Amino acid sequence: MANLLVLGTQWGDEGKGKIVDFLAPAFEIVARYQGGHNAGHTVYLQGKKIVLHLIPSGILHPDKVCVIGNGLVFSPRAFFKEIDDLKSLGVDVSPERLLVSRAAQVIMPYHPLLEKISESTRGEKMIGTTCRGIGPCYEDKAARWGIRVGDLLEPEILKEKIEDSLRLKNRILEAFGYPALSAAEIFEEYRILGERLAPYVADVSAFLDSQIANGKWVLFEGAQGALLDLDHGTYPYVTSSSSTAGGVCTGLGLSPKKVDGVLGITKAYTTRVGSGPFPTELKDENGAIIARRGDEFGATTGRPRRCGWFDAVAVRYACRINGVDLIALTKPDVLEGLVEIKACYAYRYRGEVLKDFPSDAWMLERVEPLYRSFPVWRGSIHRAHDFSEMPSGFLDYLNWLEDNLETEVGLISTGVERADIVYRREQFEKILGERAKILG
Ligand code: IMP
Repeated sequence: MANLLVLGTQWGDEGKGKIVDFLAPAFEIVARYQGGHNAGHTVYLQGKKIVLHLIPSGILHPDKVCVIGNGLVFSPRAFFKEIDDLKSLGVDVSPERLLVSRAAQVIMPYHPLLEKISESTRGEKMIGTTCRGIGPCYEDKAARWGIRVGDLLEPEILKEKIEDSLRLKNRILEAFGYPALSAAEIFEEYRILGERLAPYVADVSAFLDSQIANGKWVLFEGAQGALLDLDHGTYPYVTSSSSTAGGVCTGLGLSPKKVDGVLGITKAYTTRVGSGPFPTELKDENGAIIARRGDEFGATTGRPRRCGWFDAVAVRYACRINGVDLIALTKPDVLEGLVEIKACYAYRYRGEVLKDFPSDAWMLERVEPLYRSFPVWRGSIHRAHDFSEMPSGFLDYLNWLEDNLETEVGLISTGVERADIVYRREQFEKILGERAKILG
């Protein structure tokens, strides 16, 4: 048995989609456990760019079963849009291979509106969310106002819950100048969506448990990144879910004993979308070059991502709180062509050197990053497939990262295509055993 958790160790957009797509052949099931359609997992297939927001990236492999866990906030509208898009690409999205937890929270039409109100009320201190209704839907979950996928299947219950919810929501909407929403209209739309959704709805916890008992392997696909975790990220500039390892158990109804290994996806530099502290941010020409070469625009919103040097303090923290066994390093080729490369190994705060990531965002805003400089490497790693093709300058950068993160790098992504990867099988054998051979 080897169920592997794959998660981002920075502020999201580390390139998880491609890595999940590469690893999927070694697993039977791919399961998402948190977030919603705020995620954007980009996969390039035969030169075609495919962006998945809600459905796990494993869906592109015909023989995999994909699971959407109770920890997600689920937009039926977004789900069926993605289903229709995938169908038009010839991808099999039948209910036999796509399960949605009946305990997942449903994103309702009022959630994005409430988010607009919340963000505009914050003014300059806005979080810079994706405006998909993610936060308000999780708020309703915690406040016990939420409507769950199972409720969509029972019209009487659904009608009552929508009416109850709108008694409160409409008062808020009207107070901020929005027209009240019609319970009857929302009910009619969501009743029909519920009918269409019914074949996909399942008890995901029981399903996974029985599959694992029968020897099937699960790849847990994290969304966003560790530093956007509601508890452990740069609060309040975070998403509203548990994007760290703990989210797997609550978000799928699984015991922690079922997670056998953790792969941390780490970009060779740092990016962040939206507001919040970012000590190594580059506001100069280097930042612009990285953004351009790395195509750093949000996969969900199209917003330009903020770019900066690699931050080993932040990633070391992410490795610790998630128990990362191995790292998959993405996009190091983007750094080629810069006149110098830097990486942060510690922060200075009020004259003191900090090696640990502070948990207060206001403190992180005030730290000064301490850098180590690296000479640019001669030769290219773009589209390299083997270590022997890697310039020694890059290997110095890699060794430094491994030393500073106290974690080995088991995969290096060297381009956008599925095949642009350097795979260190001996390291994956420690987690996947014989199955590591399936991957190369
Ligand atoms: P929300 O998840 O839409 O509530 O947004 C909260 C914060 O998380 C914002 O800064 C977003 O830009 C960020 N965020 C949410 N999803 C992603 C993602 O998939 N990649 C990167 N940032 C994200």
